[in-house]
Parts: sequence; structure tokens; C-alpha cells
Amino acid sequence: MKDILTAPSLQEFCRTTSNMYRLGWDERNGGNISLLLDEAQVGAYLDLDHVIRTIPTGFDAKALIGKLFLVTGTGKYFKNMERDPETNLGIIRIAKDGTTAELLWGYADGGKFTSELPAHLMSHMARLSVNPENRVVMHCHPTYTLAMNYVHELDEKKFTHTLWEMCTECIVVFPDGVGVLPWMLCGTNEIGEATAEKMKEFRLVVWGMHGIYGVGKDLDETFGLIETVEKAAQIYMLTAHLPRVNTIKDDELQVLAEAFGVNYRKDYLNL
Ligand code: 13P
Ligand code: ZN
Repeated sequence: MKDILTAPSLQEFCRTTSNMYRLGWDERNGGNISLLLDEAQVGAYLDLDHVIRTIPTGFDAKALIGKLFLVTGTGKYFKNMERDPETNLGIIRIAKDGTTAELLWGYADGGKFTSELPAHLMSHMARLSVNPENRVVMHCHPTYTLAMNYVHELDEKKFTHTLWEMCTECIVVFPDGVGVLPWMLCGTNEIGEATAEKMKEFRLVVWGMHGIYGVGKDLDETFGLIETVEKAAQIYMLTAHLPRVNTIKDDELQVLAEAFGVNYRKDYLNL
């Protein structure tokens, strides 16, 4: 057996959490990530027949039975993950009943997966149904995106449009826009279901006055989506109180999207 701490996906996961922390997206225990793992790859590092303990999830994830995930622990600080992965992270497998997680590694202090597991696993199910390549669900509290929630209407067309206007790259990076949920109680199956519903048509979902969810085929792609939204939100917050002299016009956004051949939400432009 190889040492799991040398596994490239675990190391990349840890580097990602450190980057997110340094960018100010994950204060204290804010934020959580889940990564769908390849069973054959994990088998080189862990005895897949050795279940450390089982933990009920409180919801049904039948479509994910037998699937393995690397998941951040609840209450754990992103700043500490790279230094001590075995305490702060865990590898779980969804058991045959669809409602239990089998712990194969991690949560070494007796902890468990993030309180947002419903939103993560429900989003994985929703995304896999539209994109079988999806592996990552990432949640965090990026400062400017959150600030924008307090001063901008929480309407997905208007919110997306404003972000698209802020940086030329935005409509190319997230042509499918940003879904928006109103403020809701976090950590519940209800917010998980609402998030997953949005994930059928968006790869980014803002949780009103809480944070953002992103999904993608790998950690870089998902990180890059949130990073681009956050950059645009930063430009917005730096300029929203100033007279707008210049802007990228809707016909220019259209030209841009067409030049890059992306399938953008045409009804989000006012042409
Ligand atoms: P966890 O510590 O349970 O992952 O919760 C953090 C968070 O961001 C809740 O939305
Ligand atoms: Zn959160």
C-alpha cells in the first residue's frame, strides 16, 4: 500500500484549501469541498474493505451508492488542512443503503464530514446527471461576492449581467451565469435540495448573504470559476459607488461570447 499522504489528489486538495484560505474565502471553518474519487486509484492507498466507522448522512443519495469522496470535516479550519489532513479531511464511501457514509480514512479526532454534505452530495447527483465528468463541489465565503450580496439585487439575471460587465473574461468563463438562492438556513436538506435544483442549469450558485457554490470536473476548474466571480465582484465593489463612465455594452458581450464560441444565456443580455 502506498502512503495516502503522498497521493497527488490529496495533495492538490490540500494546496487548494490553503490557497482559498489565503485569499480570504474561508475564515475559521467557513467553506467545504467534496471531491469524487476514483475507486481504483484509492485502492492503491487504502484497504477498501476496512471501514473505520459508519456515519448516517440523514438523506438519501442512492445514485451515489459505492462512490468515494474526499470531504472536508465539519468545524475544521481551511488554514489547517494542509498541515494535518488526517484530522481535517475524510474519505467516505456511500453505503449500500444510500443513507450512510462509511469512513475509510481521516476525521482522526472522531469528527465527521461537513454539515453541508446534503448540498454537496445532492449537487454531485444533479451535476453528474448533466455532466458525467463532474467531480468537485466547492463552497466558500469570498469577501467581495458576499459584499455584493448586500448592495445588489439578488436576481440571477441581474446579478449575472453585472458580473459579466465587470471583466471581459466573465461571459467566456461562466456563460451559463450564476444561479441565486435567497437567504436560507444552511446545513439542511432543504438548502441542499434547492442548491441541487439550481445545479441542473448553473455551475455557480450564490447562497444569498452566505457564500457561493461552484462545481467542475477538477479542483482547478472549480476554483477558477469562483475566482473569476470573486474578481468581478471585487471590481463591482470598488466601482459601484463611483460614476460609471465606461462599460462593456451588451452587443460587445454578445460579440465576445460568439468569438469564443460559448453557449451563453442570451436572455440575460438586453439586446
Ligand atoms: P462546516 O464546518 O460544517 O463545513 O460548515 C462551514 C460552512 O461554510 C457552512 O456553510
Ligand atoms: Zn458556508
